[in-house]
Amino acid sequence: MTHIARLTGVAAFGLAGLGLSVNALDARELRIGMITPPLHVWSQAAVSMAEELAEKTGGAMTLTVFPAGQLGTEGEMMQQLQTGALDMAFLTIAEVSNRVPTFGAFYAPFLADDMAHAARIIRSDEARELLEILPEEAGVVGVAYGSAGMRQIASRTPIGTVEDLRGLKIRITPFEPIRDFYNILGVAPTPLPLPAVFDALANGQVDAIDMDAELIWGLRYHELSQDVLFSNHMLFPMVGLISGRTWAALSADEREMLSEMLARYADGTLDEYIENDPIWMQQVADAGTPMRRVGSDFFAAAIEAWEAIWAPKAPALAVLRDVADRTR
Ligand code: BEZ
Repeated sequence: MTHIARLTGVAAFGLAGLGLSVNALDARELRIGMITPPLHVWSQAAVSMAEELAEKTGGAMTLTVFPAGQLGTEGEMMQQLQTGALDMAFLTIAEVSNRVPTFGAFYAPFLADDMAHAARIIRSDEARELLEILPEEAGVVGVAYGSAGMRQIASRTPIGTVEDLRGLKIRITPFEPIRDFYNILGVAPTPLPLPAVFDALANGQVDAIDMDAELIWGLRYHELSQDVLFSNHMLFPMVGLISGRTWAALSADEREMLSEMLARYADGTLDEYIENDPIWMQQVADAGTPMRRVGSDFFAAAIEAWEAIWAPKAPALAVLRDVADRTR
């Protein structure tokens, strides 16, 4: 029994005679946020975790899930984690790399061949060791990685060669490694948080989007596109984070229970993407949107130039390249 559950048990005994609800008075209410829509893999994982937590603690600990950027952008959620206003989050490593640049190493173009290879890199000891710097550098505890699949491109205009991307405005998640990738290619990167993407693509504010298979299919971006490049050009890891302040206030038992659970649900997303990434892309193709598989040769011009910018900023790059070679 956890410290909190024990306390609640004692309180329950004492309060029962008063006819008061224990949960209303003593339950510890935790909050988890994410930028993804309610039916997204991350949001659903958080809902399952909330159910498990309530059941395991007999309601002594609850977890309220705030999907769809209800608490703000990922940058704002990171700040809330740092102040303790938010207890937990599933955040992209993109946001983490804005604060701790060595995490930019995960975005080396074509680091992984496919999602299964990406998962082997993300689950490596070397990747896990990187999480150890987060309490010191960012005021958060990173318990485990997950993923949102691999990056693809959906475009309102047909893309025959990489030259056709030149001059287009492409929506990117707001972080530097992806911005540099498209700048090198002569594409105009337009940073937009996920909830703003559909309208921007629909009204032509952007010509194309950098996105993953789940959302190209699930949010019907493909219906606004005349071309989808199935490129797998970058990994897109997620991390399960606990606020450093929340962490400090937890007992040892609570830390163990919450970190085990959050890690399991974050890591479980990797298996979902290994299984479903190709299926979602096939569904896009079956729906009639022109879709093409392109590889590293399509973006060849950008790969070395990207490495030249990021090798000095992200010492982890050499380490993750070795992991990628070893796990290929
Ligand atoms: C995005 O910014 O494209 C994104 C963020 C989180 C999950 C999936 C996609």
